Amino acid sequence: MIVLALAIVILLFGFVVFRGAPYLPTMRRQIDDAFELLDLQPGQTLLELGSGDGRVLAAAAKRGIYSVGYELNPLLVFWTKLRYFKHRKFITVRLGDFWQAQWPESDAMFVFLLDRYMAKLDKKIEIYRAGKSYKLISFSFEIPGKKIDRSKKGIFLYYYR
Ligand SMILES: C[S@@+](CC[C@H](N)C(=O)[O-])C[C@H]1O[C@@H](n2cnc3c(N)ncnc32)[C@H](O)[C@@H]1O
Repeated sequence: MIVLALAIVILLFGFVVFRGAPYLPTMRRQIDDAFELLDLQPGQTLLELGSGDGRVLAAAAKRGIYSVGYELNPLLVFWTKLRYFKHRKFITVRLGDFWQAQWPESDAMFVFLLDRYMAKLDKKIEIYRAGKSYKLISFSFEIPGKKIDRSKKGIFLYYYR
């Protein structure tokens, strides 16, 4: 029984590598740096692709910022809903593949992906923003050939104009 439960957990954390980055959380200080670079105002909305355990969504809620996160791992979605129940007015977490989802309107995006997904993401953002200005924070990974507007210790801000 324990072996089966363990196998399911390993499977849930493992299969995501075919669709994006495996689970690895961003640290508190880096999240603070990301929000400093983003300069979002209370009432604005952040979209997070691959929201992990929900810590970025919670950091947004604490700043009065609404957020929508997509997460492929049902255990992490469940954990986010449970752990941040008190912030439910601000946080929406959706179980699903962010590549296939219809992204809701938002003012900015936070991602922690992998090198090989950055060009694809850039193309999707260009379509999604439909000419409107938009901010992207990428933790650790740069968009090939695109100018970084600001950065702080491995956090990159791209400002689409
Ligand atoms: C590197 S972790 C980052 C977690 C969180 N964003 C953070 O910074 O703490 C990437 C997360 O994206 C999720 N993920 C990967 N591919 C995905 C996809 N196509 N759709 C939704 N979630 C995905 C993984 O399950 C994992 O939780």
